[in-house]
Amino acid sequence: MNDKNNKIDLLDMTRLPEHVAIIMDGNGRWARRRAMMRSEGHAEGVNSVNRITRLSSDLGIKYLTLYAFSTENWKRPQTEVDALMHLIGWTIRKETPDLVKNNVKIHLLGEIDRLPESVRADLEAGRHATAGCTGLNLMICLSYSSRWELTNAARKIAEKVKNSELAPSQITEETIASELSTSGIPDPDLLIRTGGEHRISNFLLWQCAYSELYFTPVLWPDFDNEAFIDALIDFQNRERRFGMTSDQVSVGDKTEPTDIDSTLAQI
Ligand code: IPE
Ligand code: IPE
Ligand code: MG
Repeated sequence: MNDKNNKIDLLDMTRLPEHVAIIMDGNGRWARRRAMMRSEGHAEGVNSVNRITRLSSDLGIKYLTLYAFSTENWKRPQTEVDALMHLIGWTIRKETPDLVKNNVKIHLLGEIDRLPESVRADLEAGRHATAGCTGLNLMICLSYSSRWELTNAARKIAEKVKNSELAPSQITEETIASELSTSGIPDPDLLIRTGGEHRISNFLLWQCAYSELYFTPVLWPDFDNEAFIDALIDFQNRERRFGMTSDQVSVGDKTEPTDIDSTLAQI
């Protein structure tokens, strides 16, 4: 507890990321190392979800996006998929009262229609119950993949062009961003992947164009408050340049350029 408090003291509360995205990986290996079933690793991973959601909310982080089940994860053995689906429904039912109490709003990203009906109903109930919450925005990615999302966006834009609602020359980066499931949400400042792999696995490919990436060998069920604070401290030691030079970004007190003319004038 003391350690945790000491670590929190190292955080600059004025420079926290606005949006943290997490690839929660390593549940299976956590279980295997204990001769447990993979599904038990997933169940243990839920404790990490609750812990990190709570800490993000307490710190005042505005957006937390969690990769809970990918499009590719449907290819896993049916027993594991079933166990995961059951766990997702059970967790959302159990946690919704606490989420409401902590003012956390649930958003769902992904092809939710592919989930079993009872799980969809649990998720909808959770979303409905937290719709008025104004604190942390908790984005849960289920049956999500970035290529699915980008393909969908391309289809929607093509429809608009076909219906003469949009000319091809009017398609901008904003047009594409507005057709993604993250429309209206700022891009992640920090992307964390637990479990030791150094890959993105089809997650937020568009949105993470300028995110800071943080990879840790810690398996998701072991990812505790201290491990999360370590990631935030690491983030605060990065220099985000957005294509500019170090001198340019250190002149202002903002990390992202908003007025390129005044920045250039200072070179
Ligand atoms: C992440 O843990 C959870 C999901 C993908 C649903 P894994 O189940 O991928 O765990 P490992 O990578 O096999 O250890
Ligand atoms: C990524 O983990 C997906 C989620 C955490 C939901 P995976 O374990 O599915 O990723 P790969 O297959 O190792 O790339
Ligand atoms: Mg994995």
